[in-house]
This record gives sequence, structure tokens and C-alpha cells, in this order.
Amino acid sequence: MANSKFFITSRCRTSAQVIALIGPNGAGKSTLFSVMARLQPLQSGQVSFAVDNEERDIASCHARTLSKTVAMLGQDNHVQGRLRVHELLMFGRYPYHQGQPTADDQQKVQEIIERFELAPLAERFLSTLSGGQRQRVLIAMIVCQDTPYLLLDEPLNNLDMYHAGRLMRELRELSHSQQKTVVIVLHDINQAAQFADTVVTMKEGQVMAVGQPAEVITQTTMKDLYNVDVTVLNHQSRPVIVDSL
Ligand SMILES: Nc1ncnc2c1ncn2[C@@H]1O[C@H](COP(=O)(O)OP(=O)(O)OP(=O)(O)O)[C@@H](O)[C@H]1O
Ligand SMILES: [Mg+2]
Repeated sequence: MANSKFFITSRCRTSAQVIALIGPNGAGKSTLFSVMARLQPLQSGQVSFAVDNEERDIASCHARTLSKTVAMLGQDNHVQGRLRVHELLMFGRYPYHQGQPTADDQQKVQEIIERFELAPLAERFLSTLSGGQRQRVLIAMIVCQDTPYLLLDEPLNNLDMYHAGRLMRELRELSHSQQKTVVIVLHDINQAAQFADTVVTMKEGQVMAVGQPAEVITQTTMKDLYNVDVTVLNHQSRPVIVDSL
């Protein structure tokens, strides 16, 4: 992951934005996330996050500070236990309340329930939810952590067309209004094209390209990344890809 320092500090420091991380299966996207969130040790190099113009090196960062800096949704999630939705969301506040939720924590959870249209599910047990409903709740829990950096690994898995679009809009709004950097692994290139401020491509463990959607999502890049032939159209100044038959 030689490029990880470049990727995080050089490209994300200046402004909060939505970054789509794309690339073929096995490119190293989830691995990059797990080293960024300190779930796996780095063999070499450095990962740091810029917070209030200060660089936080995750290698020396206290666990509680890290949990207030970066929140991550993994690709495979198994939530267990007899928990209700609102209880799981409060769990996302743990770095702040340490087991004793305050009125501020309650308010934050309520705000996220409304933002992500989860009120009808709030009292339900997680075990009774559908796959897509569970995914929406897990994403909301990550957002409850209220960190300046969010890493979401394939968050659109199991989401229908309405909820996928709605989620991408909410994340973009959250990023721009609350100055958060949201990095999203996506396999749906058109979602990346439509909603990302920046697209990063990865292949064989390396960052290949970084740029605005129209710069990065081209016929040549798609062929190079995925070995597929596509036609790139333009819709509202953003690329849209369709299969070339
Ligand atoms: N703990 C590990 N030990 C050895 N190899 C691993 C480990 N974790 C991942 N890999 C390998 O590293 C490569 C990158 O895996 P990674 O999960 O990061 O890919 P990805 O880009 O997220 O792919 P996908 O789109 O399929 O989720 C793969 O070849 C994978 O098998
Ligand atoms: Mg992955």
C-alpha cells in the first residue's frame, strides 16, 4: 500500500468530500480500508488523517481518539445479539458516552434516525430486519459515530434503487454540510460517477488514478481496470457508462 499516505493526506486535507474508491475484485480496496482503520497493521508506510489542520498518525493514535476520527463499515457484517435498532445506533455513540448516554447522544441518534428514514424500524430487533434494512441500520450506526472520516465498504449492497440513491445523496449532503470526508467503495460505476466529488481507482494493490469523475471514468480506464468495453455518455456534466454490445 505504498500510495496510502499520498491518498489520504494529499487528496483529502483541503476539503471534505465524497470519494469513490473503485477497482476490480481483489484490487486491495478492503485491505486499504482495514489498514486505514488500524484493523490490520501496516508492513511499511504511514496512514494519517488530517483533523483541525493537525495530522494524526494512526500508529500512535489513542484508541478513543481514533474512534472519534474514523468510522468504518466493513464489507461483511454480522450483527448479533438481541438488540433493537435504536440501541445499535446508540452503540455508535460509544466513543463519546462510554456506556452512559447523555441527552446529546439521544439527540444525535434521533437526528440520524430521521435523516436515514429509520423511524418505522427504530423499535425493531435487528434479527427481524431484512438484509437491506439491516444494511441501512449499520450505515446509520457508523454515521452516529460522528467522525470527520467515514469509510464505507460497498454500502450499497442489498439496497434497492430508492435506498441506494437516497443514501448516496444523504452522504453527499452530510459530507458537504458537516465537513466530513466520506470514502465509499463502489462497484456501481454510475453511482460513483453521479455522486462522487473524486474517484480513486485501484488495481493490484496500487492507486492508479485520482480525479473528478469525468477525468477518471473513461472508456480507457474501464478497459484497463475491468477489461470491459463500455460507452461513456454524458449526463449533466457527469459520465454515465453503458455496456458496448
Ligand atoms: N488476510 C489476508 N491474507 C492474505 N491475503 C489477503 C488477506 N486479505 C486479503 N487478501 C488478499 O488481498 C487481495 C485484496 O483483497 P481485498 O479484499 O482488499 O480486495 P477488494 O479490492 O476489496 O476486492 P472485492 O471487490 O472483491 O471486495 C486479494 O487477493 C485477497 O485474497
Ligand atoms: Mg472488498
